[in-house]
Amino acid sequence: MDIKNVCVIGSGIMGSGIAQLCATHGFNVNLVDIDIEILKNTKNSIEKNLERFFVLKNKISKKDAEKILNRINLNINRDEAVRDTQIVIEAVFEDMNLKQQLFSELDAICNKDVILASNTSSLSITDIALKSKLQERIVGIHFFNPAPVMKLIELIRGKKTSDEIFDRAKSFSESLNKTVVSVRDSPGFVTSRLIYVLCNEAVEILRKGIASAEDIDIACKLAFNFPMGPLELSDLVGNDIYFHIGRYLANTLGEKYQSSPLLKQMVEDGLLGRKSRKGFYEY
Ligand SMILES: NC(=O)c1ccc[n+]([C@@H]2O[C@H](COP(=O)([O-])OP(=O)(O)OC[C@H]3O[C@@H](n4cnc5c(N)ncnc54)[C@H](O)[C@@H]3O)[C@@H](O)[C@H]2O)c1
Repeated sequence: MDIKNVCVIGSGIMGSGIAQLCATHGFNVNLVDIDIEILKNTKNSIEKNLERFFVLKNKISKKDAEKILNRINLNINRDEAVRDTQIVIEAVFEDMNLKQQLFSELDAICNKDVILASNTSSLSITDIALKSKLQERIVGIHFFNPAPVMKLIELIRGKKTSDEIFDRAKSFSESLNKTVVSVRDSPGFVTSRLIYVLCNEAVEILRKGIASAEDIDIACKLAFNFPMGPLELSDLVGNDIYFHIGRYLANTLGEKYQSSPLLKQMVEDGLLGRKSRKGFYEY
């Protein structure tokens, strides 16, 4: 079944990037959020991103940018938005109960051939699917931030994901011009498990006064040829996201994944990184 229409649920950092990416590759996108203000801002921010990173860099024309924007429809009504879509990509908060609830509600309203994808960065796809009647349709499509730019998609096969859905999700991901790696379901998959450990250790180094945030980031960039230091990255992804990943990994894989007390404190103080304009750095 050809994919023409995509529904993205959650229009935060990831959902809006995924919507932009899909629209850039010719898909019609219904973008849904429960928060009308967030939805309204989304189109503005996608417009700005297209202008700044694509039009001004001569990657696309102004006319193409308009066409891309016109392919994105904002919708506050989820049930209406998922109708007539061949793939639903969930990008709501990283919360197991919320995601389980969402997928269990999609059972009744999606068409029978739909691919149900979660963009979770760490939660088990098998567990996310547990309350759904369509467990074989649920797959992990893990995009990276910013979704329109980053080259990788981590494709996660839950215990019940069917071969057919996995293969179609792979073709869809490749049609977005991404390189796909296949991963068996396990907390944190490959990428989040690895990067969480690095970022959390960087926070511990900072907490113990071994080096400043700037020096930790410079050290990693120059020693390991990383494009970005771990604390800059944590600010970009969201310190709350890493904190939640840590809590989940500690619960599922063991104590050694426990977050640094400094990361916990920062999340409690609202120092979430770029999205709150303050984290390890000010923005
Ligand atoms: N931030 C990253 O770098 C990154 C990278 C890869 C994957 N992810 C994953 O993507 C998901 C979203 O992360 P984010 O950073 O975009 O979060 P975010 O907080 O920026 O956005 C989440 C959005 O979901 C909306 N939402 C919450 N409940 C909803 C519901 N029931 N229906 C519709 N919308 C709802 C919220 O209003 C919000 O706009 C998480 O699972 C996260 O782990 C994040």
